[in-house]
Amino acid sequence: MITQETIQQILSRIDIYEIVGSFVKLKKRGANYLGLCPFHNEKSPSFTVSPTKEIYKCFGCGKSGNAIGFIMELEKYSYVEALKWLANKYGVTIEETETSPEVKLIQQAADSLYIINNFARDFFANALFESEEGNDVALSYLKQRGFREDVIRKFQLGYDPASGNQFAQAATAAQYSPEYLQKSGLVVVRDGRAMDNYRGRIIFPVHNQSGKVLGFGARVIKTNDKSPKYINTPENEIYVKSKILYGSYFARTAIDKADECLLVEGYTDVVSLHQAGVENVVASGGTSLTPDQLRLVKKYTNNLTIIYDGDSAGVKAALRGLDLALEEGLNVKLVLIPDKEDPDSYVNKVGASAFIEFVKEQKKDFVLFQLGIALQDAGNDSNKKSQIVNQVAETISKINKTEEFTRRQDYIKQVSEILKIEEAGLNALVNKFIRDKVTKDETRSFRNEQAAAEDADTTVVPETGDAELLFQRDELNERAMLRSLLEFGLMKWENAKTVAEYIFEQVPEDDLDTFICNPALRDIFTRYKTWYREGLEPTIKNFLYNEDREMNSLVINLMEVNTEISPNWKQKFEGHIPTREELFKEEVISTLKYLQLRKIKKLIDENQREMEQAGSSEDQMNFLALHQMLKTMEIDLTKGLGTVIFK
Ligand code: CTP
Ligand code: MN
Repeated sequence: MITQETIQQILSRIDIYEIVGSFVKLKKRGANYLGLCPFHNEKSPSFTVSPTKEIYKCFGCGKSGNAIGFIMELEKYSYVEALKWLANKYGVTIEETETSPEVKLIQQAADSLYIINNFARDFFANALFESEEGNDVALSYLKQRGFREDVIRKFQLGYDPASGNQFAQAATAAQYSPEYLQKSGLVVVRDGRAMDNYRGRIIFPVHNQSGKVLGFGARVIKTNDKSPKYINTPENEIYVKSKILYGSYFARTAIDKADECLLVEGYTDVVSLHQAGVENVVASGGTSLTPDQLRLVKKYTNNLTIIYDGDSAGVKAALRGLDLALEEGLNVKLVLIPDKEDPDSYVNKVGASAFIEFVKEQKKDFVLFQLGIALQDAGNDSNKKSQIVNQVAETISKINKTEEFTRRQDYIKQVSEILKIEEAGLNALVNKFIRDKVTKDETRSFRNEQAAAEDADTTVVPETGDAELLFQRDELNERAMLRSLLEFGLMKWENAKTVAEYIFEQVPEDDLDTFICNPALRDIFTRYKTWYREGLEPTIKNFLYNEDREMNSLVINLMEVNTEISPNWKQKFEGHIPTREELFKEEVISTLKYLQLRKIKKLIDENQREMEQAGSSEDQMNFLALHQMLKTMEIDLTKGLGTVIFK
């Protein structure tokens, strides 16, 4: 762990303009700087840097963050790696706190494995290019398959001599520990003798996204039935198959630029496509995608295009797990390569430009593709057809982030056309799945089944269209409240009271859930309050340099970087435009009122429901009295609403 002091030293030196400016050409525009976004392709600049707020935000692709986040995004670094990069840049010496013995052991193991892998990579590459056997057996094979030498070198391919223990001997002579040599999978012990595990095979080093060698895939040259075509590194401290995408190191910049990641099955597919100039490509190794791999893709892009051969078992494998991709907000497309070819053989057969054209033309939406296959299977069976409707509705329901509303509606429209069913009906079905999921998630926390059942009975679900609108307005007001707190919290409200204290009064602790429904926003509020109470400065800057990246980006999204005002407005206000700072009290009051009103409305609803079930007339009278009181409060609140409205 890097010490807090070191982190503070680094933070105090950070200049976001300087850091971003060393990668992006920036021009001054008002209080901000503007440039071409390094994270997506654009012709006119929408990438903005605010030196005062110490953040960047691209209005084209939506990426945003602080200086650390920028380095993380650009270099795909972890938080700690980014800190180290910055420390190096600013000449800050890093002090680290003591790590626990267990962690140290794992680190040692990982370090040793990396070192051995580097040694092995160099040994194998050398054997491929410099030895006679390598030239005759392996290099000639690769060349005969059409691989160019520059590409072979780029991917650091190699060869392990067939004689059986040349690598093991070299590694032992270089004093690598036998234990780690076995752990790395490079060496196996047979009858007490250390043997090369990959003897006689072509070696594909597997890199992580920053180029470190995690392990190897080793392919036989002469296929025979006895040994498997590939041997891969066994799971160890650094080789965790479920987190690896082969080629990610070579593909990262191209994926960023294209805003699309192509996924193929194998090593040779990746290398061949690179050679053809298609560089935004990674391989899964022929298994279905894991959540970690999907997350890795998401680090670079939201657009995933899977290119598999048409009749491979891989297609089925790929299609599994893809509902998860939808949940993660990925756009998934599918391309099937015909005639028993795979991407490697197909690009060799038809050439680079025909291949690229083919992919572009054949790219099919995953949801619609799946639907197509299911319909084919179903034929005229009407039972199966209604099953399909249910399945596709469930799949679409996985797309349920607020910002994906339009995407979901698009699907509903298209699918209802394909299935020749009413759009409204499908819409209702999709919404039912979404509600089911929400209820399931909510009730999961209730151990008590009865409580869960009761809950389901009394849940009133409003019409979906309205619910969506209402939800968005609620969300906007919750955000506005947090934004006022972050920006104006430390300003004076009245007398000795700060804005923060006023807000704390209005949003009672035990009622936080009703005031702030969004848990992520609630976290920010709670953290702000804790910092404030403990005398720490809950400034925006401190929030931005927080280790919690999700909280970071949420805070940035709450801020408005673009504060330029159109000339028309300037005229209208005759030179003086009231700023948010000048109007901040009104802003605070009106958002709080909205949230209070929301709460009162909820109470009125509850009261009404109880009133309907009340037994005695005395009870009824009490409920009625409460109802009237709440109504009066509602009217009062409504009167004050509307100076600043977040709709
Ligand atoms: N694979 C594996 N172990 C095997 C077979 C396959 O790990 N015994 C993985 C490898 O990552 C391989 C991918 O699955 O790259 C796809 O397998 P396949 O299509 O059989 O191999 P190709 O990559 O096409 O290799 P080649 O073109 O040399 O046949
Ligand atoms: Mn192949």
